Amino acid sequence: MAEDSLTIAGEAIPARWLRDHGEDEASRHPDSLQRRTDTFAIDSSVQITACHVDGDRLHIDWSDGATTEHSVDGLTRVVRDRRAPAPATDRPLRFPDDITLWSRPPEPSAFDVGVLDDDALWREALDHLRRFGWVAFEGAELGDEPTRRLAARLGYVRNSIFGDIWPMNSGAFEHQDSAYESFALDVHTDGTYSHDAPGTIIFAQQARTGDGGASVLVDGFAAARDFQALNPDGADLLTRYSVRAHFIEPGLHLVAERPPLRVDPEGQLVQVSFNNYDRSPVLPIDGFVDAVIDAYNGFRAIFSDPARALVHPWEPGRLLVLDNWRCFHGRTSFTGERRFLGCYTNHEDLEGAYRVAGLA
Ligand SMILES: [Fe+2]
Repeated sequence: MAEDSLTIAGEAIPARWLRDHGEDEASRHPDSLQRRTDTFAIDSSVQITACHVDGDRLHIDWSDGATTEHSVDGLTRVVRDRRAPAPATDRPLRFPDDITLWSRPPEPSAFDVGVLDDDALWREALDHLRRFGWVAFEGAELGDEPTRRLAARLGYVRNSIFGDIWPMNSGAFEHQDSAYESFALDVHTDGTYSHDAPGTIIFAQQARTGDGGASVLVDGFAAARDFQALNPDGADLLTRYSVRAHFIEPGLHLVAERPPLRVDPEGQLVQVSFNNYDRSPVLPIDGFVDAVIDAYNGFRAIFSDPARALVHPWEPGRLLVLDNWRCFHGRTSFTGERRFLGCYTNHEDLEGAYRVAGLA
């Protein structure tokens, strides 16, 4: 047997999609349902070599040596919920022309935290954030006060499922989320499971021993521009196909969806969204499965190129703000203790801060 699809509820589900959506512990976390399968390592021609059904469980053996398990009931729902992209428009994807799109990382730099107390110097820092999508500060006291002062400059601290200012400490698993592990974290945006994803993320390092654990930043707008140059149809599809995501832990089940490249009515890019850990099992309708998977994987191949990554060095007393609608962030693997404070602010407040400062 070597099949490139499997018929469930009368519909053929493509093998490459099934291979990515196992429900066994090797394929996804049993509680948070965060993806463990390496989507981007799956061969597009992967085939089913054997399968059998045992009650509600479907067991599949794969041509790449893997085995996966699935729920027949769950796959029946996937067939029912197949999604079409929104209709094409005559407005091609375009990009703001008053910011600095960077395909190669600028030099890491940091303002002295004292700029928070000086309107003219703060305006320079804010302009750096507007142009590049991130800005760093050094020399801050430990504790949450500098983070609160910085958030107040950007709007106000946004409460979320993580709290207002949340500790993120190695070895302390406050949430069932990959962010609390010590392995390398693929670059992503936060809050793909939120209808209104956080506008900015502030990180403030509190303590550090051991090696690794640098933050990695990538300009998502520059990556989208470069992907469009390579694959205009793929980029267009990512403005029209909504990707669903979830966050699940006891007492919580959040779901939201939007296109990876969200545009305004004129076709200008407004927001990038991408977190493969949190992506939910949704199947495009016939005729779009390969196109959507190829576009999704193709965009990821562009933005995960290490040559694009700004590796941000950390030491206690440093703060970093990133525009979560523009920049992807990730982390290298690490050893030892790594303690941070983090918080979110809203994007409309960030945009308002730009206007008030005369920057937009
Ligand atoms: Fe994150």
